[in-house]
Amino acid sequence: MVTSIPATPVAAARGSGGSSLKRLLPRDARDRCIVALDLPNVGAAKALVSDLGEAVTFYKIGMQLVFAGGLDLIAPLTAAGKRVFLDMKLLDIDNTITHGVESIAGLGATFTTIHAYPKAMRAAVTARAARPLGLLGVTVLTNMDDEDLSAAGYRSDVSSLVKSRAVDAVEAGMDGLVCSAREAAQVRRASGPDLLLVTPGIRPAGSDAGDQKRTLTPGEAIANGSDYLVVGRPIAAAEKPARAAQAVIAEIEAAL
Ligand code: C5P
Repeated sequence: MVTSIPATPVAAARGSGGSSLKRLLPRDARDRCIVALDLPNVGAAKALVSDLGEAVTFYKIGMQLVFAGGLDLIAPLTAAGKRVFLDMKLLDIDNTITHGVESIAGLGATFTTIHAYPKAMRAAVTARAARPLGLLGVTVLTNMDDEDLSAAGYRSDVSSLVKSRAVDAVEAGMDGLVCSAREAAQVRRASGPDLLLVTPGIRPAGSDAGDQKRTLTPGEAIANGSDYLVVGRPIAAAEKPARAAQAVIAEIEAAL
């Protein structure tokens, strides 16, 4: 049932001398489900959060909501005991990553994302220092397949690129990776036991894949080694979002 998690899990992990957030992985299935607030404005996001109530404890704020005032939602969400994953997918020169991460570290988010380029990840880890912000490397976006990578000029296939980025993330000192749940087992083998694996592209059986290409159901994702699942449209666009969230969480619970 509900297992309490430390208010600042990242700080607690580092403060006790460890670097692994994996040790603080919540046992409660509810805390492993991150709902993406991919909505056009703060009002719509607040309405969804209120509708989901106690069913959901962790929210992701990404590009769409950030550009519509979504940063202002971090403080009320954390004050209400929720955790926030600020999905910024940073990629820039080292100096800009450094100052960007320093700014993000003051916002109260539990996680943020950096594209898994070695220099960007190293700059982020150095800038984050001992502050309570978990850094996740984005391996290969879950809407991309081998053909998309080739069209973007990459010579690797998805599987090899995900694997090499996992190794680079470990070397850079990152806390976790964002990858497809389909690759979670392979990423775990490449990255070792300590990295958190956060997987979007989750689709309950029978739901619409939309633009996602590398999807799995919540149960399959957990069975494949995902630590946290990111779920957007299957919950946010459901006729009854709270019921959809409860169904996802029940599937996580059954698979844990
Ligand atoms: O609606 P859906 O469940 O497809 O939403 C997935 C969320 O996860 C989106 O906010 C998307 O930006 C994010 N994401 C992703 N693939 C990644 C990284 C993040 O789909 N590799």
